[in-house]
Amino acid sequence: MESLLVLALSIRNFRNLAQADFRPSPRFNVFSGDNGQGKTNVLEALYAVLSSKSFRTSKVADLMPHTEPGGVAEVVSVRAKVREGDMTREQRFAVDQGTRSVRIDDKRPRSLLAYATASPVVVFHPGELSLSTGPSAERRKLLDRVALFVAPTGISELEAYTRAQRSRQKTLEARGIDATDVDHWETLVIQHGLALMEARAAAAERIVSRALVAFESIFTTPLGCEISYVPGAPREAEAFRAELRKNRALDLRRGTARIGPHRDDLALSLKGAAARTSASQGQHRALVLALKAAEIAVIGEARGARPVLLLDDVSSELDRARTEALFSFLRATEGQVFLTTTRPELIATEGAERADFQLRQGVISPLS
Ligand SMILES: Nc1ncnc2c1ncn2[C@@H]1O[C@H](COP(=O)(O)OP(=O)(O)OP(=O)(O)O)[C@@H](O)[C@H]1O
Ligand SMILES: [Mg+2]
Repeated sequence: MESLLVLALSIRNFRNLAQADFRPSPRFNVFSGDNGQGKTNVLEALYAVLSSKSFRTSKVADLMPHTEPGGVAEVVSVRAKVREGDMTREQRFAVDQGTRSVRIDDKRPRSLLAYATASPVVVFHPGELSLSTGPSAERRKLLDRVALFVAPTGISELEAYTRAQRSRQKTLEARGIDATDVDHWETLVIQHGLALMEARAAAAERIVSRALVAFESIFTTPLGCEISYVPGAPREAEAFRAELRKNRALDLRRGTARIGPHRDDLALSLKGAAARTSASQGQHRALVLALKAAEIAVIGEARGARPVLLLDDVSSELDRARTEALFSFLRATEGQVFLTTTRPELIATEGAERADFQLRQGVISPLS
């Protein structure tokens, strides 16, 4: 499988990074520096130019550099020269006056989804340690990122589903539970919701088989790990409709819909007990590593190119054994890796090609 390679990166006015240009190594790239210098911002800029999104915020305006009162807002821009096989392209992500634009070789892509799947990238950041301990939202995001590659049409219905749910809720509030308009919105909720659940089920199926193998390789003793997709609504139209109808009064009172794929989850269990409430710290971390390893493998297979990997300060959150598991996994998987750390001496790349960069107050300088 070909690896996706970032050959050059050029960042302008991205948070505290005023201007940064560098040529990464095709293998490991280590960004070190004290807290608050801009290490995560570099990964965020890379993620933005490859995926069109941030992994920290859903508001692109957050990426604009803070200015003095009365100061001029600069244009945020990230350019990446990307190689895949013997093709190279230039991708550009920009935010101008709060509006995002993306280009591939100066052309507007068909859709944001087309842009987001052009150059696969997987990020692993400390917030994701809640994949196993936290609420279902992070797990749905995992399903959605994978579904983007394995079931793009279905996942593109997420927005329409969310709009239909919101309209149903507003109609319940404005017209009451017997209004005929509610039927109309429920029809749309069902139509988009079923497509969405189908896409997530497909993503889950691929993730599960990969994650279980990865988990077993971290823990050699069998722990009876099970992972399964739990849809937030019946996956059959008439049953879905009946449930929505039954819940109208309750949904009106609570201000939110009790059923639907916005309640989907990926259930994790060890020996039949929910991991969230019964797993040990080490088991949680191993589960998260296994899920991330699965995300990387499934996206690579579905896209036919090894994704670029971004690891944000992950080893500081992992214990020794899990850090070793992570690095042996990284050495075994080929491909380009960007990682941040406050302690570069702990990054065990063992002879692999590696470039080190130092960050100080938003300025990147190569270390050699
Ligand atoms: N929109 C913005 N404009 C200017 N500066 C910003 C903006 N957003 C964040 N910053 C600054 O960027 C710096 C944080 O950068 P970043 O999160 O990349 O730090 P880091 O090097 O990863 O630190 P840590 O090791 O603590 O994770 C902070 O000083 C913060 O104030
Ligand atoms: Mg950071």
